[in-house]
Amino acid sequence: MSRLWDKGTPLDERVLRFTAGEDFSLDERLIPYDIRASIAHAEMLHAQGLLAATDLAAIRDGLTALGQAHARGEWHVELTDEDGHTALERRLTERIGPAGGRVHLGRSRNDQVLTALRLYLREVVADLSAGAISVAAALDRLGAREQATALPGYTHMQQAMPSSVPLWAAGFAAEIRDDAQALRHVDRRLGRSPLGSAAGYGAPGLPLDREATRAKLGFAAVHEPVTAVQLSRGKAEAELLFHITVLLQDLGRLAADLLLFYTQEFGFVRLPEAFTTGSSIMPQKRNPDVFELIRARSATAQACLLEALALCAKLPSGYQRDLQLLKFPLFRAIDLTQQTLGLLPAALDALSFRPERIRLDPAIHAAEEANRLVMSEGIPFREAYRRVAAKLKGPGSAG
Ligand code: ARG
Repeated sequence: MSRLWDKGTPLDERVLRFTAGEDFSLDERLIPYDIRASIAHAEMLHAQGLLAATDLAAIRDGLTALGQAHARGEWHVELTDEDGHTALERRLTERIGPAGGRVHLGRSRNDQVLTALRLYLREVVADLSAGAISVAAALDRLGAREQATALPGYTHMQQAMPSSVPLWAAGFAAEIRDDAQALRHVDRRLGRSPLGSAAGYGAPGLPLDREATRAKLGFAAVHEPVTAVQLSRGKAEAELLFHITVLLQDLGRLAADLLLFYTQEFGFVRLPEAFTTGSSIMPQKRNPDVFELIRARSATAQACLLEALALCAKLPSGYQRDLQLLKFPLFRAIDLTQQTLGLLPAALDALSFRPERIRLDPAIHAAEEANRLVMSEGIPFREAYRRVAAKLKGPGSAG
C-alpha cells in the first residue's frame, strides 16, 4: 500500500499521475516545515495523553533524522507517494515501525499542508522583504557614487525639469522600501495556526490542544473556527503574489529606465562586459539582457496572481483538490522574485553613469525661471509662465 488512504484496491496509474501532477516534486520544499509541524503535533498528542513517551521519542528522532537526510539530498518525494505528507509518514513508519502510524491522529493532510505552507511562507516573506531592502541599499550606493551627476527629469519622455542620479535613485529606493514593508502585511494572514482543524471540521472525540501547537510553532493565534481554515487557503497566497507583482513592477520600471539610458542614443550608463551578453551574428553587440528579463518578470508574477485568484473563485466551502494547484504559481513567482532580488544589487553596483554624455536641454530650467519671477516680482504665476514662454520662442514671436 502506497498512499495513506490505500485500502487494497489498486489505483489506476493514470489517475495517480493526473491527481499527483507536479505536487510530489513541489512538496520537496515543504518537507522541513512539515517535519517541524509534525513534531509539534506529536508533542501535543503526548501532552494530551494520546501518545506514549516512547512513541513520541521515536517519532521525534525519526522525523529529525529524515529531515537531515532530506537536507543532504538522500531522499526525495516520489510520484507513488502522491505528496510530501505521505512520503514522510511512509518513511517514518519504515524507520520506526508501527509508532509511525500514530502521528496522524487528529490531523489531516488538509491542515498539514496549510501549516507547512504558512511556516514556509513566513520565511519567504522575511527573505523577499530583506531582498527588496538590499536592492534599495544598492540604489542608495549608486546615488552616493553619482552624487554630482545631473540627469534630465522626464515627463511624457520629454525633458521636463532638472533631476540628478541621486534623486532618480532615491525615488526608486523609497518605493522599493515601501514594497518591502507591504510584503510584511502578509504575516497577518500567515499568523494563524491551522493545526487541529484537521480535514476542516476538527477532530471529534479527541482532546486536542490547538493552543499548544500554536505556541510551539510561533503562530500568533489559533485559526478559528475550524471551518474558516480551508476557506482561507489561497488568500495569503494571493496577497503575497499581489505584493510580489507590485515589487516586480517597480523593479521593471527601474529596468526600463536603465534600458533607455543604455541605448547608443542616450549613452547615459555603462555596464561592465560581465553584466552584458553578446550576439551570435553581430560582433559589436553588448546586450543588456539582465535588465530586459527583470522588466519581463512582472508579467509572470501577474499571471501567477490571476491564477491563484481564479483557482479559489466560486469554490464551495471545505477542502477541494483544486487548492493543491495553488502551489505551482505561488512557488514560481517566489522563485523568480528571489532570483531577481539576488542579482539586481550586483547589477546596480556594476553600473556607472557617463556624465559627459548627459546633456540637459537649456529650456529645462523654464519652470524654475517662472518661479523666480513670481518670487522677485510678486506677479501671478500665469503671467510669469507666459513671459518665460515668450522669451523661449525668441524675438519677434512674443505674445
Ligand atoms: N497535496 C494536497 C494539497 O496541496 C494535500 C492535501 C490533500 N488532501 C486530500 N484530501 N486529498 O492540497
